[in-house]
Amino acid sequence: MLIFSSKKVLISHLSAFKHASNSLGMVPTMGALHKGHLALVKKAISENDAVVVSIFVNPTQFDNKDDLKKYPSTLDTDLEYLKSISDELIVFTPSVTDLYSKNIKSKEYEFNGLDKRMEGEFRSNHFSGVATVVEKLFSIVKPNRAYFGEKDFQQLLIIKKLVQKMNMPIEIIGCPIVREPGGLAMSSRNERLPESLRNRASFIYKTLISAKKIFGMKSAQYVRNWVQNKFDDASDFDLEYIEICDQETLIPVKRKQKNTKYRAFIAVYISGVRLIDNIALN
Ligand code: PAJ
Repeated sequence: MLIFSSKKVLISHLSAFKHASNSLGMVPTMGALHKGHLALVKKAISENDAVVVSIFVNPTQFDNKDDLKKYPSTLDTDLEYLKSISDELIVFTPSVTDLYSKNIKSKEYEFNGLDKRMEGEFRSNHFSGVATVVEKLFSIVKPNRAYFGEKDFQQLLIIKKLVQKMNMPIEIIGCPIVREPGGLAMSSRNERLPESLRNRASFIYKTLISAKKIFGMKSAQYVRNWVQNKFDDASDFDLEYIEICDQETLIPVKRKQKNTKYRAFIAVYISGVRLIDNIALN
């Protein structure tokens, strides 16, 4: 496994590889790797001649400095984990200075409203930070394909819009959410939950499954209220939002239309830990 911390050295390594018309896959991450990340890496390996995994905790996408400070850093285990999947991976672990120089700021983007609701509404500047770092990573690695999880479905749509707007010839591939046996979506933040609360947190997914069933019979507004009531009754949770949106535009649904795919999106606090999840409804 090759590990590069300098973008210059990585670029020169990759230029030799690209001359030979090989396909290059990329999986951007912030480390603290779990099975959700590894599923992306495995898919990338199966579809490309070589794969770059980046590990970089991006300061510009955290609206809350405390959240950035608390973000787990487990580089040694991450590298072991990656090595156990394949010894051929290329890992990129840049420093903040290497990616941002002295200008640790987000660029401004226009994403046709995709970035305004849900995560965009409750975490200001989050998506401009994500897009800034992903654009930087893409321009260094220049992958043919890049893999993102549906766990962050809004992020996935924004990255698709980013490459389209920037005319980057990169195929963005969405991968299904990997869950704990009880249904809780895997997340680096789950580590901050004691074991008992991890079981309890599977209530989020169970509620989404029930919402999906009800959505077949009732209006979107009915389902939103139903979920809201469920969480009102569960005093250990603090619901931040429940939205039901057209899964392409992320516009909240007023009236269901035929031939439109809908998805429910949720953000919840439990014991001070913020968890997000989503589910396809039809
Ligand atoms: P991070 O949270 O580390 O996630 C890296 C990738 O793993 C994202 O595409 C995310 O959607 C995916 N992922 C996380 N948990 C998953 C799960 N349970 N199932 C499937 N995929 C999962 O997302 C980021 O980092 C950052 O915003 C990044 C894109 C790297 C930019 O800094």
